[in-house]
Amino acid sequence: MKQVRSEDLLHMARTGIAEASPVRLLGRKYELRVLEDLLASTRNRVGGAIVVRGEPGIGKTALIDTAAHDAVGFTVLRTAGNEAEMELAYAGLQDLLRGFVRDLGELAPPQRAAIEVVLGRLSGDAPDQLLVGLGLLNLLSGSRPNEAVLCVVDDAQWLDAASAHAIAFAARHVSHDPVAFVLAERDRTSEFRGLPELAMLGLGDQDARELIAISVPDRIDDQVANRLIAETRGNPLALVQLPRGMTPAQLAGGFGLPMVATLADRIEGSYRQRLATLPSDSAKLLLLSASDPTGDSRLIWRAADRLAVAESAAEALEVDGLVEFGARIVFSHPLVRSAVYSAASPSERREVHRALADATDVALDPDRRAWHRAQATVHPDESVARELEDSAARAQARGGFAAAGAFLERSAALTSDPRQRAPRALRAAQAKRQAGAIDSATGLAKIAQRGPLSDRELAQLDALLGQIAFARHRGNEVAPLLLKAAARLEHVDVQLARYAYLDALIAAIFAGHLAGETGPAMVARAVRAARTVDESLRPADLLADGLALLLTDGYQSATPALKAALAAFRGQGVSSEERLRWSWLAGGTAGLIWDYETWDVLTARQERFAREVGALSGLPIALSIRVGVCLFSGDMVAARFLLEQVQVVTDASDGERFPNAAVLVAAFSGDGDETRPLIETVMSNSLARGEGLAMTMAWCATAVLCNGNAQYEEAFAAALAAVEDPSDIWYWGWSTVELIEAASRTGRAAEAKPHLERLIQSTDASGTPWALAVQARCRALLADGTEAEGLFRKAIELASATPVRLEVARSTLVYGEWLRRHRRTRDARVQLRVARELFMKFGMSGFARRAEGELLASGDRIRTAPAASTNLTPQENRIAELAARGSTNQDIAEQLFISRATVEYHLSKVYRKLGVKTRTQLANTLRLP
Ligand SMILES: Nc1ncnc2c1ncn2[C@@H]1O[C@H](COP(=O)(O)OP(=O)(O)OP(=O)(O)O)[C@@H](O)[C@H]1O
Ligand SMILES: [Mg+2]
Repeated sequence: MKQVRSEDLLHMARTGIAEASPVRLLGRKYELRVLEDLLASTRNRVGGAIVVRGEPGIGKTALIDTAAHDAVGFTVLRTAGNEAEMELAYAGLQDLLRGFVRDLGELAPPQRAAIEVVLGRLSGDAPDQLLVGLGLLNLLSGSRPNEAVLCVVDDAQWLDAASAHAIAFAARHVSHDPVAFVLAERDRTSEFRGLPELAMLGLGDQDARELIAISVPDRIDDQVANRLIAETRGNPLALVQLPRGMTPAQLAGGFGLPMVATLADRIEGSYRQRLATLPSDSAKLLLLSASDPTGDSRLIWRAADRLAVAESAAEALEVDGLVEFGARIVFSHPLVRSAVYSAASPSERREVHRALADATDVALDPDRRAWHRAQATVHPDESVARELEDSAARAQARGGFAAAGAFLERSAALTSDPRQRAPRALRAAQAKRQAGAIDSATGLAKIAQRGPLSDRELAQLDALLGQIAFARHRGNEVAPLLLKAAARLEHVDVQLARYAYLDALIAAIFAGHLAGETGPAMVARAVRAARTVDESLRPADLLADGLALLLTDGYQSATPALKAALAAFRGQGVSSEERLRWSWLAGGTAGLIWDYETWDVLTARQERFAREVGALSGLPIALSIRVGVCLFSGDMVAARFLLEQVQVVTDASDGERFPNAAVLVAAFSGDGDETRPLIETVMSNSLARGEGLAMTMAWCATAVLCNGNAQYEEAFAAALAAVEDPSDIWYWGWSTVELIEAASRTGRAAEAKPHLERLIQSTDASGTPWALAVQARCRALLADGTEAEGLFRKAIELASATPVRLEVARSTLVYGEWLRRHRRTRDARVQLRVARELFMKFGMSGFARRAEGELLASGDRIRTAPAASTNLTPQENRIAELAARGSTNQDIAEQLFISRATVEYHLSKVYRKLGVKTRTQLANTLRLP
């Protein structure tokens, strides 16, 4: 009972005076129309978002309040960011959804769980931010007939980061939903960048003059009014407030307005002047009110009591119109609050924070109490530090890594004993890293470094430094850090050490030929030397060992070990942690040893698992690795679709972009205009940071692009660069294949022979039909005379029995070319037609053009099959395909990061366009492979 009340109070305090009827708005016709248009289209179930931007006092709140007030037929949800609560994870979202009664049972279970944790109805692990965003979107869009929802978020620049994230995600993904977002913020914060914007400027002269006339009782000289308007550029708050600090003589004219600082400072300054005239009791009461964000008057009066402030102190404030006292205490403008707070001296602030802490119920609101206590404390104080530590643990449980980091940071600062301070700083740094606040994580890690730390903590610190470096980029300074961490961990925790070794190896593989001293081979030797007596090998250990062996001894020795590691990853004994952290690596490794099925199975499994448990931030790399699976099956649509998802996920989390897959897809599609700039960017970035793997990928992509476009000289040079350094294992196989094809077209068979030898070793060791098909084709390309034809045929036959359709197409193409050069024109045409058709079906226009060129050269006339056009938009196409393959609307919504309502909308259009009524008919019409 008590708690509900304080929540209500909090909400009212946040949303301020706005819920009463808004001010009479002067001007702003255009701005109102923009907002009305958004509402009108939202009523028609096409929602959207607008961010109202402008300087302090320009009239954002006044505008959005008016729009909300006039939003007939909408359920209006409101919240406002609050400077003092920026560290409280999900405070804003809790407030927004307060009283919004909806059946959460309609949400997909992971989304429901995420929302329930956020709302504090369920305790659980930190929910993934993306799931919260998606849950929010679906909750709001929850399709009640004839109901639309308007979310009004004022002062969005002060939202806590977690809420801002979720709201930005939902606002960005509103589509055919009856949901509108109207946000107001001062500056362009990164969260809401890119959403449609409504920039607010000052009032026009006429309206400005009228506003002055209404709000300043004394008559203002026309000239003064003009100067005021000119100087404030029509900022309404300034128009109303500046004259109040003037003497009648000044108002009557004949003075110069002091040109100082920014407008906000000027306004704050004028408030401060008024504060100076207040009785001391009143000033103290005002400072108390400014120091607690809840505005809960009972709390503030309890605190006032402790400071012996009399009730009469309120009178002077009310008379002045600076605050209103009721069940809540509301400032007339946010600038009043910051003026009050900034005008106070540090010791005055500490005094009121202490009173507020003492007046806060430790059982009901322990975090707020801890926070006030921390603000009240200058000198180290172990009991405060410990309380903050407890708050951090609670925040972490709610998924508030940012809050946990802030609490722990302050806790460390208030700890005098270095033996406590260093570990606290370490944990603060870990939380900050998880929250994506890499800079402050770095700063805290430096404090932790001063120590003393236990051996275990020292090792954890090293691992953290490595993770921070890896989060910044995948360059060559990461592996040494992780290697050091692994070596240290070996003495305290063997399993953690092994995991750190694997991470170090990954980092070294990413650095590749640009690694410097700590290169892949060196780390691989360290991994192998690190074996201990404890031989209960986990799947991740097997993988580390196998990859190390590959680097030290090559494919022949390593392939059996890698096969065993992958079998372990496919088996029952793999832990959730291993699956979440390294299934992508295991999947990619399967690709290295030509095991297509395992590549497919493991990446699909990691994707599913990550979605199920809501660990979506691990998705980008898993999806990126999975792109290769689609590429080699010739499914470019699916590959591009995966790329889009990667984009969505990285947009929504602070993850670094991982462009490798996108570049390869572009290269295989054969469009130089699209691919070349991507390659250039990757080249210069990877060189700068020492990320050899990306550079090799760029060479490999260049080779693919050029082979597709029949630019064999360039293809050869690029492929050669990609395979030259044995440290670069990741793209070695693909690049070798390109190298051999380019060599065969440029008379470099002899040069290519050693590369073919290595490829034969690797494919023999693998022994899969895919491996043997690739081997047969590559041998055929460098063979002379009669041997070649049999090998080409074998390559096609072997590949045809696998899902790796790209190999069928490529073998058919080179076989057709070989036939044409041997003047067997009719046979050549048969092969080239098949190849061309396959490449066209895949959407690989470069290789399709190459086949076409050969066909023309063989005297064939190209017949283009009429495209089975369905008139579906790309989005409709994707939804139709997923539906035809049996996904439910709910599944599709989750996959595409849109609401269920939007899926239903698109699907109904698909049905109409295709003239079908059921999913079965849809599947028949689309004739999916
Ligand atoms: N068009 C208008 N007509 C009349 N009064 C207005 C108008 N716009 C703003 N005001 C008044 O000017 C003052 C400042 O406006 P408002 O609080 O909306 O600014 P804001 O942009 O929200 O500022 P902040 O960034 O500080 O939140 C308020 O007292 C408001 O009532
Ligand atoms: Mg405002």
